[in-house]
Amino acid sequence: MTESQRFKVLAERDINRETFVEPWPEAGLMVADSPYDPQPSIQIVDGRIVELDGRQIDDFDAIDTYIARYGIDIAVAPEAMALDSLTLAHMLTDVNVPRTHLLRLATGCTPAKLVDIMRHMSVLEMMNGLAKMRVRRTPANQAHVTNRRENPALLAADAAEAALRGFAEIETTVGVARAAPFNALAILVGAQTGRGGVMTQCAVEEALGLRLAMKGLTTYAETLSVYGTERAFVDGDDSPWSKAFLASAYASRGVKVRFTSGTGSEALMGSAEQRSMLYLEARCLCVTRGAGSQGVQNGSISCIALPESLPGGVRAVLAENLMAAMLGLEVASGNDALASHSAIRKSAKLMLQFIPGTDFIFSGYSAVPRRDNMFGGGNFDVDDLDDYAVLQRDMQIDGGTRSISEQEAGDIRRLGARAIQAVYAEMGFPVITDAEVEAAVVAHSSEDMPARDIVADLAAADAFLASERSVVEVVAALAKRGFTQTAENVLMMGRQRIAGDYLQPAAIFDRTFTVQSAINDPNDYRGPGTGYRVSGERWDEIMNIRQAKSPRDFIVDRLGSPIDGLDAYGQAKRGGSTEVVVAIGPAFGRVITKTIGGIPHEDVLKAVLTGIAEEGLIGRIVRVWRSSDCAEIGHVGAKLSGSGVSIGIQARGTSIIHRADLARLNNLELFPQSPSMTLETYRAMGRNAARYAAGRITTPVPVTVDNWARLRLIVKTALLHRRETEEIRDLPPEALRLDWEPEV
Ligand code: 5AD
Ligand code: CA
Repeated sequence: MTESQRFKVLAERDINRETFVEPWPEAGLMVADSPYDPQPSIQIVDGRIVELDGRQIDDFDAIDTYIARYGIDIAVAPEAMALDSLTLAHMLTDVNVPRTHLLRLATGCTPAKLVDIMRHMSVLEMMNGLAKMRVRRTPANQAHVTNRRENPALLAADAAEAALRGFAEIETTVGVARAAPFNALAILVGAQTGRGGVMTQCAVEEALGLRLAMKGLTTYAETLSVYGTERAFVDGDDSPWSKAFLASAYASRGVKVRFTSGTGSEALMGSAEQRSMLYLEARCLCVTRGAGSQGVQNGSISCIALPESLPGGVRAVLAENLMAAMLGLEVASGNDALASHSAIRKSAKLMLQFIPGTDFIFSGYSAVPRRDNMFGGGNFDVDDLDDYAVLQRDMQIDGGTRSISEQEAGDIRRLGARAIQAVYAEMGFPVITDAEVEAAVVAHSSEDMPARDIVADLAAADAFLASERSVVEVVAALAKRGFTQTAENVLMMGRQRIAGDYLQPAAIFDRTFTVQSAINDPNDYRGPGTGYRVSGERWDEIMNIRQAKSPRDFIVDRLGSPIDGLDAYGQAKRGGSTEVVVAIGPAFGRVITKTIGGIPHEDVLKAVLTGIAEEGLIGRIVRVWRSSDCAEIGHVGAKLSGSGVSIGIQARGTSIIHRADLARLNNLELFPQSPSMTLETYRAMGRNAARYAAGRITTPVPVTVDNWARLRLIVKTALLHRRETEEIRDLPPEALRLDWEPEV
């Protein structure tokens, strides 16, 4: 077999570093529609579900039992189950069917019924459905803030910046489990410095997580994992009941709870029971609703690479988000774990949640570099922040973040790092030095941080955890050291725990600590003109990315005063046969005095005239006043040229070699890429025009092609052209003389 150069290049592409496999339903390696998946069914006798998705009550496993008891509204079930799945799919996409209507029906659906509805839907239809069904009207986002070295100054600085960038929630975790209390503390203090009201959590073992919450170090908990098979639950040392109990424990302390599930976990744990990933996820979601969780973090989460190795995987992940939203659960919709090597693929996948908008588009946008992301590397990370901001701006979509300047970032990072430094000092924790604070302000990653004594940090964290000391002391420390605003914000988060207003699906705090949730900001999308729209101040924020410049002074460095010695002497006439007319645009050498590439017009003229002289012909300069169009400038020049040949040059430098007998839009040679033009090209252009005029044979002037030039310079091109067009006058072509002689 011959080796194709193209396949060789393809083999080296990022996409080909991934694994793609064929479905294997027996192993649970099938995202949807496993031949072993049950058909939807329900039987209710005396107010009890006695048959669920083809299984009789005597054969129920723990999950069936839990769902039958708590996960399905039996008052709605007969009506919902009697509806054709295709009809329900239509209702999801139909803007005339309100969200509340579907919310009611979904509570009466069995897991297999939910999956059966999804079966009829394309990703586009699901996106429509998600736009309507997501809980909160206003979309938001969650960030990950962690670092490999568990450095508190860096954690606080990163959390402060993430908060300022607009993330509504910030999640941390640990490399070393014992670091948990300090990591939770650092992001709490950092986040409340960046923006009051950002919720924080620390993903660790669940008993420890609860203790952190009770100390007031976290405001929500998200990693209460549930699974779709009994065996996976058992391996996780849990049951639906224990999860529900834990959720209640959190809620009783005013901590918001979100479960975690997602396609692929059961297959990964070797106990998929031949079911498709989506069917098992539907079971998880019914358990989650039954347990009274406010929502779910799903979209495969840490397992994402597994569905993505299979056909339809990305579609199934969207389907699980939509099923959760149908059940009235807030959805933190994945996009967190590293899912692809390919920037194209990861961006494409993101669109499925980004365009419809979800309660939290990422259930963890890595606000740190990939190496420092202790969740195993983020799919989007801190280095992608500008790309992300541009995506929001391009599509006028609220992705939950805003662009900030280097100055703003530096200031807030310093404040966050100094706040945690003050807390450590007041509370007698190992010192955070000024050098650490300053390093945290400018660091890219934890590699840029001075080393800390990790043994001392962990010992202090142990003692803090074991003690009665709580967030109250943190508030006092901040207040005492003059971090008044941060102290107030941390205290306010504590007060919110008591008020409990945010124990509602999709609750987040806005900048004034007002809750936005299912209750007071419910999604009311009903098609064009309804629901959340990016507008007003928020649109200003999204459009004003830090790189955006005013186009008004974009071209000032190309403007200047008229070329010395380039003088007009009346109306241009037709000349003799040994001439080449050099026709210039209305702004050339007057208002605009340099080409787009920065070459002074005076030098351009001299180069062209020299080229013509080299071939023994005479160059005669003419200004065209009635058009700024390159072809027209050249053609007018050609008609005035005694030889019939001309060179036309626009002020931005775009040029043409024309001849009088050709149609206006035809030419001898065109030089459309003005940024790539050099004085040598202009000179060669002069030579070639003269050769055409003299009837000699010549080859076209070689030009460099830079495909990026148009992309890079299109705004300048437009503005230079606009400026030249402004100089158009209703005057005949004008004869010009340059007070200069070419030396050849
Ligand atoms: N199903 C259930 N739990 C999951 N987690 C991640 N992905 C899944 C999933 N698909 C949980 C794990 C992990 C935490 C980040 O979230 O418990 O520790
Ligand atoms: Ca998360």
